[in-house]
Amino acid sequence: MSTQAPSNVPPVEKWDRLLDGKVAVVTGGGDGIGGAIARLFAQHGALVEIAEIDSERAAAATQAIEAAGGRARAHVVDVRCAEDVARLRAAVLDEHGGIDVLVNNVGDYRPLVRFQDSSPESWQAMYEVNLLHVFAVTQAFLTPMIETGGGAIVNVHSVEGMRGFPGEPVYAAMKAAVAHFTTSLAVGYGRKGIRANGIGTDLTQTPQVDYIKGFEDREDLWPSWAPAGRLGWPEDQARVALFLATDLSSFVTGHNIPVDGGTKAGGGWFFSPEARRFVNRPKGL
Ligand SMILES: NC(=O)c1ccc[n+]([C@@H]2O[C@H](COP(=O)([O-])OP(=O)(O)OC[C@H]3O[C@@H](n4cnc5c(N)ncnc54)[C@H](O)[C@@H]3O)[C@@H](O)[C@H]2O)c1
Repeated sequence: MSTQAPSNVPPVEKWDRLLDGKVAVVTGGGDGIGGAIARLFAQHGALVEIAEIDSERAAAATQAIEAAGGRARAHVVDVRCAEDVARLRAAVLDEHGGIDVLVNNVGDYRPLVRFQDSSPESWQAMYEVNLLHVFAVTQAFLTPMIETGGGAIVNVHSVEGMRGFPGEPVYAAMKAAVAHFTTSLAVGYGRKGIRANGIGTDLTQTPQVDYIKGFEDREDLWPSWAPAGRLGWPEDQARVALFLATDLSSFVTGHNIPVDGGTKAGGGWFFSPEARRFVNRPKGL
């Protein structure tokens, strides 16, 4: 039997501009993880369409990409709003006639409401900012993606959708729903050329989640909390998004990858500097 890849395995012919000429929509692409994804995709030759609620962030992100020699356009949209999603869809399709990559990145754990104090209003807010728009934006671009030969969908959710999150179970449930939507979408549309994968984010320094504030001088604490021994940065997430968006991952679909410095893998084990070993109970200290 031949060990050579048949012609339906897309060749990776170059490794420097992996998204050359591809059209990529990144929601929340103005800052944080979405901002890093937009920059890295542009660096790899993508025409990046940034969908961002904050007009200043949208403009700054686009200018930074253009200053670095990349191509990007800003769309000031609230992805929770159906009219805005329709406007985004029209603007992207009018310009390019299609789309190759969609990154659904918008999400928020704030305001963090303890479940006992939560309400139908707070559940609805969690739903709209973490899940509803993933359905809406995916539906807006899925058919055009299929019609132009397929594409890749990358959904940025959270490691909290892949493990128990005591702080905010409603947020965790929304993220778990995004992960399962991703898996199911992949199975349903794989034969139409669509790949869909998710990123279960954790421990990443962004405007939304400031892990450093108040602990500026305590970098020594990180090895106790993250198996990778350090804080994560938006670029750490963007590299995985690039992998999932390109033919580097041509046979990967329906998966949710924790990009978390190993927190999910570590389960309940922590490295204790005092005990100089891993502990999983207070007695271990
Ligand atoms: N940072 C982390 O450690 C972490 C951990 C778990 C999950 N996540 C998830 O990763 C994703 C990105 O998080 P982040 O930390 O980069 O967030 P962030 O708030 O720092 O950045 C999000 C970007 O999206 C924009 N945005 C917010 N609401 C929007 C809307 N309705 N429409 C359009 N744009 C909108 C914001 O203005 C901002 O530019 C989110 O889904 C978040 O839940 C992050």
